Amino acid sequence: MTDTLTIPRPDDWHLHLRDGAMLKGVVGHTAAHFARAIVMPNLVPPVVTGADAAAYRDRIRAAIPASMDFEPLMTLYLTEATDADDVALAQASGLVKAVKLYPAGATTNSQSGVSNLDKVHGVLERMADIGLPLCVHGEVTDPDIDIFDREAAFIDRVLDPLRRRLPGLGVVMEHVTTADAVAYVQADTSGNLAATITTHHLIINRNHILAGGIRPHYYCLPVAKREKHRLALRSAACSDDERFFLGTDSAPHTDTAKLLPCGCAGIFTAPNTMSCLAHVFEEDDALDKLENFASRNGPAFYKMPVNSEMMILKKQPEPVSYPEQIETGAGTVTVFDPGFDLFWRVES
Ligand code: DOR
Ligand code: ZN
Repeated sequence: MTDTLTIPRPDDWHLHLRDGAMLKGVVGHTAAHFARAIVMPNLVPPVVTGADAAAYRDRIRAAIPASMDFEPLMTLYLTEATDADDVALAQASGLVKAVKLYPAGATTNSQSGVSNLDKVHGVLERMADIGLPLCVHGEVTDPDIDIFDREAAFIDRVLDPLRRRLPGLGVVMEHVTTADAVAYVQADTSGNLAATITTHHLIINRNHILAGGIRPHYYCLPVAKREKHRLALRSAACSDDERFFLGTDSAPHTDTAKLLPCGCAGIFTAPNTMSCLAHVFEEDDALDKLENFASRNGPAFYKMPVNSEMMILKKQPEPVSYPEQIETGAGTVTVFDPGFDLFWRVES
């Protein structure tokens, strides 16, 4: 039985770091394990221009604990007023690695997002030309579509038509939650499509949120689906298919904001993600695939080098403990509880 795993230092290809006191409170939890992360731009107000992204990158750098080595990979928040030249300049300078599409109203701080894709077609065309990927929050916002069907409907109504119009555009389907999304990626032959999978969607299904009491700390968007979908995500993550890679979507909210009659969507997994993933991959007899999922497939898609430093994970004889909550200057944030003991610990 393997009890030591050595992999190139992983990256997180979808992360929320927030700003101000929350940023200061959470960034070290990611930087302790991950070399780089694609940082989501859904601040209030959002990170729209190259200048916004440069200023946000500087605030992130200033918040990283001095002992840690971590590179934030910046994204721009696509709005109907986004300027294609500004986007191209931000990419050419090396500042920005992707643009994020939030359908307006789909999730937290998405109100400045896109209602009409025709209005951003020029920007998307330019991105296809310059090889800048679009990261997509893949849910329709139509109130007539059941929340559990919104990802599948997005593929049919929005994503597939968009990709037919712009086959050269690199697209990352972020935090996929359904067998439909997995199948859509698997069926692609363009080489321009990939998907991130979160840690929590490999572990929870919708029963965990709703059966036997409502658990706000398991509520995120896209919401976790039926068990058959979780199993499809597990087999995609643990497969040899390099189009699937880790994007934790670690999304801190204060407990006060989570535990409201209308609480926020988001699960904070940064501190224990690697322990959870090692557990999941071991359970699926795929420990040898964790390296591809967490450390190699993402850089390959984003055309970046794999990190040269290594991470060592060791399986402990006794459960490894993580704090139930962390304190930040913005308030207390609850850490994801996988619902089982964790034995894998990041040693270095
Ligand atoms: O659960 C989520 N939380 N999903 C998102 O798409 C946004 C995120 C957040 O920013 O809190
Ligand atoms: Zn997210």
